[in-house]
Amino acid sequence: MSVTAIVLAAGKGKRMHTDVAKQFLPLGGKPLICYSLDVFEKSKYVDEIYLVTGEDAIEYCRNEIVGKYGYGKVTDVIAGGKERYHSVWNALAAAGPHSADYVLIHDGARPFVTEEIISGNLEVLKTEKACVTGMPSKDTVKISSEEGYVTDTPKRANVWNIQTPQSFEYSLIYEAYRKLIVSEKEVLAKGIQVTDDAMVVENFGNSKVKLVEGSYENIKITTPEDLDIAEILLKRRGL
Ligand code: CTP
Ligand code: MG
Repeated sequence: MSVTAIVLAAGKGKRMHTDVAKQFLPLGGKPLICYSLDVFEKSKYVDEIYLVTGEDAIEYCRNEIVGKYGYGKVTDVIAGGKERYHSVWNALAAAGPHSADYVLIHDGARPFVTEEIISGNLEVLKTEKACVTGMPSKDTVKISSEEGYVTDTPKRANVWNIQTPQSFEYSLIYEAYRKLIVSEKEVLAKGIQVTDDAMVVENFGNSKVKLVEGSYENIKITTPEDLDIAEILLKRRGL
């Protein structure tokens, strides 16, 4: 069984409002991106890693991240694209159509992924073709109209907040992404915003997507207060 991880670090981090992109901000003495890379590097399940970053950060990542911290499993540092789904596709395309049996796609902005989460995903892939990490929503969720009125309240037990990794049979996700890229214009014309990998399978993959529990600590660093929370979580883990 061969397993590839794609670690995404090509976003601009607009909601963080910092000069340095959030994935490279210091956290506990090293760049934030290092935490997830550490976990995939050390994982007994993962064979290789594709790191995706901005065109202008490739050299920095090669020297100051992959070289400096010795991530031997990183096969290549790839240039990402405008949207997250472009970045994922660039990595899949660089790896090629038959690069591995399974692929785990992870937001580099989620430093608290663990080996248990990775093994939980791969356990599910023994019987399913696609699974996504998430946690049941703690809050009640409401659907709103464009005008900002409540139109629906889904049953809370059936509402999940989605995290990464999102994990797939490699050929399934490769083919689904290829179809998305080919029909990108129509997708955009319909007003669909592709914000995660599961959506690509839901729309183009012809496969069910299983939900698998991650952890409430597997947060995405998105806005400034998330960095404060990350510091607390680091201390809690003794990192
Ligand atoms: N990402 C990426 N390529 C993009 C956009 C996002 O690789 N074109 C990555 C980010 O680096 C991040 C993950 O996808 O690790 C999740 O995206 P998000 O949290 O939205 O990060 P940003 O897009 O950087 O932040 P923002 O939306 O606030 O600009
Ligand atoms: Mg974004």
